[in-house]
Amino acid sequence: MAKPERAAGRRFDRDHGVTTHAIAFLTDLDPDSSGDAAAHATHYEAVPVAAFRRLMAEVPDAVIRASAFVDAGAGMGRAVMLASEYAFERIVGIEISPALVQIARENLVKARDLATRCRDVRLVRADARRYRYPNGNLVLFLYNPFDGEALDDVLDRLSERPGAAGEWILYYTPVHPARLQTRGYELVATLPETHIYRKNPETPDFSQIEETRPEV
Ligand SMILES: C[S@@+](CC[C@H](N)C(=O)[O-])C[C@H]1O[C@@H](n2cnc3c(N)ncnc32)[C@H](O)[C@@H]1O
Repeated sequence: MAKPERAAGRRFDRDHGVTTHAIAFLTDLDPDSSGDAAAHATHYEAVPVAAFRRLMAEVPDAVIRASAFVDAGAGMGRAVMLASEYAFERIVGIEISPALVQIARENLVKARDLATRCRDVRLVRADARRYRYPNGNLVLFLYNPFDGEALDDVLDRLSERPGAAGEWILYYTPVHPARLQTRGYELVATLPETHIYRKNPETPDFSQIEETRPEV
């Protein structure tokens, strides 16, 4: 991560009274409680603030308002806190490490001066490979949390959701993009270090959301 991004991360922590700026390895943090997830996981590092805001600018407001946001591998909760500044229906952060999820929960409680627009925000200690993802439209955030095998497991879980709800995947540092493309996700935008994918855009909520005015 570049020096200005690190400085912005520290500023985020200072401004909001939280702790997210760190680098940690699951094998050091929770070797016993993470099970085999550690073998597939990358390290913890928080998403750069500007990068998150840049990628969110690609998601139409109508999609945000009609979707749940899920961060698979939420770490200390920076992306979850940033997401709470958008009008999602609800937000869930999933984190395998008990130590990190504890810090993320404390962060959520003490965070100050966030421009909060979503108040239904939860942090769940769970394995993203086995989690039952919410039904309905979904915006999934991935900051390269795990290897391709674990990513496949997550995509399997998504495909088990009933119906054909719309899905957006915001993949920051996309190390395994082919896994999404072979499963029918359409690449809709490429930003520095980010791919944005979409599936089932024909879902009415996603393609036809417009201001509906009563007919006169
Ligand atoms: C690069 S960090 C991203 C943190 C956060 N999303 C952010 O952007 O600030 C990846 C996180 O994924 C978590 N992780 C790895 N494998 C996981 C799994 N199977 N289930 C849930 N979390 C996992 C790691 O513990 C780590 O905290």
